[in-house]
Amino acid sequence: MVAAFIAVFSGPVMAKVTGPCGNCHTMHNSQGGTSMITGYNAGSGPYGTLLRANGCLGCHAANDGITWQGVGGAPIVYNTFAPTYGASSDGGTTHQGLAGGNFYWVRTEDTKGHNVFDGEGDANLTEAPGNKVSCSNDSCHQNLHNAFDGCGGGGGGGHDHASLKGRFGCTGCHMVSKDGALSGFHHADDTADAVVDNSPAGQGWYRFLSGHKHANGHGVSGIEDDEWQQNPTLSLHNEYLGKYEVDGNDSNSWSLQNKTMTAFCCGCHGNFHVQESSEGWIRHPSDAVIPISGEYGGYTQYDPLAPVARPDLTGWTGPSSSVNQGGIVAEDLVMCLSCHRPHGSPYPDMLRWDYDTMIAGGGPNDNGCFICHTSKDDGVPGNP
Ligand code: HEC
Ligand code: HEC
Ligand code: HEC
Ligand code: HEC
Ligand code: HEC
Ligand code: HEC
Repeated sequence: MVAAFIAVFSGPVMAKVTGPCGNCHTMHNSQGGTSMITGYNAGSGPYGTLLRANGCLGCHAANDGITWQGVGGAPIVYNTFAPTYGASSDGGTTHQGLAGGNFYWVRTEDTKGHNVFDGEGDANLTEAPGNKVSCSNDSCHQNLHNAFDGCGGGGGGGHDHASLKGRFGCTGCHMVSKDGALSGFHHADDTADAVVDNSPAGQGWYRFLSGHKHANGHGVSGIEDDEWQQNPTLSLHNEYLGKYEVDGNDSNSWSLQNKTMTAFCCGCHGNFHVQESSEGWIRHPSDAVIPISGEYGGYTQYDPLAPVARPDLTGWTGPSSSVNQGGIVAEDLVMCLSCHRPHGSPYPDMLRWDYDTMIAGGGPNDNGCFICHTSKDDGVPGNP
């Protein structure tokens, strides 16, 4: 059934870096007696893994608003001016960068992104809202702008805390591993299968999103768009895995062992996945099935502005342009990234659209919240 909806097209999957070693690495950080470090915020070096860049942003940032690929084709996640590329929620004037959004906006307002810049904390938040993990010492569950002190080398009951010492920002979420090594990700070959989920063993996780502690050896599963949704359409986009859980309160459902994007977010925001009581939903559901009935039945064509998670990606060869609601059998799910960008967005709470303009009985028609709640705008179920 599901297979019938899968688009035939599936481009070359090239999630590993390519090109001459010297574009990215330097053996001695010296040529003619001068430093080889290039890219955004270049310092003098040398830096780890023999890289020619000053940290992640050395390759993943650009000093303008138009560049979306940097050194060696690296996807840009931080532009120093508002990005002029990528999806928009308002017909084209406000672009949002690549799939994850852009860190440009968190520099304009703390609420518009994860505060990943060294020493630039969030003025309003002292820890990740909804945090379930009791740990101080600047762990990534507390904040992403201060280096984690390693809990004194193993405290807090953590068996891999010491190895994550010094982590903050990008590496609070990406490239997390049991031994703490910040290497072995960029050259991992993801080409065996359209679904990136570390299989065959040793291949990468979706966008280098892996975990530690209970999630040691686990990570996020999904299908990666080759252009990181620089220009997404209903048939060209990322795919995310989800797992249906009625109340979300089962320790398994927020564990990365299920390889879902929602579980990844819940590693730091776990309480936001505690979502149903006898009186019904008490938090907006995530990884809950989109019903086939009523207003939800109107969301049938995939819209990259409000992505859904799929209950099973086994055998998928590319993205699907359909949304399949659940009837008797569980189907596609609403998830954290249905409403949020993980890096930053032009809107408060790093939402994918301007929440202030979502007017019940008004509009905008079939946009934002109304992509799923298709009749709360004009009373008519349906999504073009
Ligand atoms: C020397 C340049 C360079 C540096 C430094 C660098 N990257 Fe990358 N990164 C790349 C390139 C090139 C790609 C694109 C690979 C491809 O074509 O799919 C990439 C891709 C990625 C991706 C997307 C992977 C995918 O599946 O598409 C993530 C996530 C990422 N890098 C995170 C990081 C983080 C975190 C750091 C710092 C610890 C970092 N990078 C440092 C060059 C770099
Ligand atoms: C490694 C821990 C970690 C993970 C994983 C994580 N977050 Fe966060 N998040 C934080 C912290 C710490 C804060 C508070 C400080 C800040 O805004 O950076 C935060 C803040 C937020 C905020 C509020 C932003 C603001 O400033 O008001 C949103 C929304 C959010 N996260 C959504 C998500 C989503 C969606 C995911 C999954 C893609 C996710 N987070 C994954 C640590 C995390
Ligand atoms: C709160 C967790 C979190 C933090 C912090 C974070 N990322 Fe990401 N990143 C994600 C998620 C989740 C995705 C996947 C987005 C998607 O596919 O919708 C992603 C995607 C990416 C990609 C692929 C391009 C894209 O937009 O999909 C790159 C490259 C990347 N991140 C690099 C970085 C760098 C560099 C930093 C630090 C400046 C960073 N990330 C900080 C969670 C995070
Ligand atoms: C487009 C940028 C880019 C190019 C080109 C590149 N690398 Fe790398 N390489 C990286 C980044 C970024 C890292 C560190 C992060 C990681 O391992 O994920 C890395 C890590 C490594 C590592 C340590 C981790 C591992 O995977 O074993 C080795 C060894 C390495 N590179 C060798 C090479 C060699 C040899 C070449 C040329 C044949 C090359 N690289 C070309 C970006 C690049
Ligand atoms: C249906 C859309 C939607 C979904 C799905 C969703 N959120 Fe939110 N989120 C919002 C809105 C809207 C806000 C603004 C605050 C509010 O209305 O409660 C918000 C606020 C937040 C905040 C900031 C809270 C603060 O105190 O500043 C965090 C963190 C967050 N969400 C994380 C998550 C995580 C993690 C998930 C998945 C488990 C998730 N969200 C799923 C819409 C959503
Ligand atoms: C990707 C689809 C999707 C998006 C986007 C979405 N929702 Fe929902 N929403 C759902 C689903 C699925 C349910 C639960 C349906 C059910 O099982 O009863 C739900 C339920 C709700 C409920 C009712 C909870 C209850 O007790 O019945 C409210 C209120 C709500 N959403 C508000 C919002 C708002 C506001 C936004 C925009 C910030 C939003 N939703 C965006 C899918 C979505």
